[in-house]
Amino acid sequence: MTTAIYPGSFDPVTVGHLDIIRRAAKLFDKVIVAVLVNMEKEPWFTIEERMRLLEKATAGISNIEIAGFEGLLVDFAAQRSASAIVKGLRAVSDFEYEFQMALTNRKLDDSIETVFLTSNAENMFLSSSIVKQVGLLGGDISTFVPEEIKEDILLRIKQRSRQK
Ligand code: PNS
Repeated sequence: MTTAIYPGSFDPVTVGHLDIIRRAAKLFDKVIVAVLVNMEKEPWFTIEERMRLLEKATAGISNIEIAGFEGLLVDFAAQRSASAIVKGLRAVSDFEYEFQMALTNRKLDDSIETVFLTSNAENMFLSSSIVKQVGLLGGDISTFVPEEIKEDILLRIKQRSRQK
């Protein structure tokens, strides 16, 4: 059985992430979506909330597991017997950072391959930060996030707008 890890902050999950998850789920027997527990920047959503949103958004895909992780990604991948790390590449601007992470991870554990997938062209610009920025400024984010979690995101945008 081939298992892949798709890691990220997912603060929150976007339609771009979901597109990569769907594509990875077709390539691997099992995909573990690994949510970074301790983020450098203060997240909008707690680890439990980020995992719950991912569970809701991926409910229709059978070979997906949502898990939290701390520490080195390669250690988590080894613990879960994963043979690949899946990353989404959007634009050329992602490349340098992703290349650095892929080579670092290879240096740390040569048995785990990083596999880059590209999302739909219409999602190329999208990130969790864009969702939060547009939402806070009153823009329409309905096509940026999975339909199943739209109301959760709008509620958090409302709460954050009040705090400003
Ligand atoms: O969604 P993000 O914030 O781009 O995800 C970044 C993530 C979680 C993939 C990255 O921060 C990560 O792999 N963190 C684990 C720490 C680690 O293994 N570092 C060494 C590789 S550079």
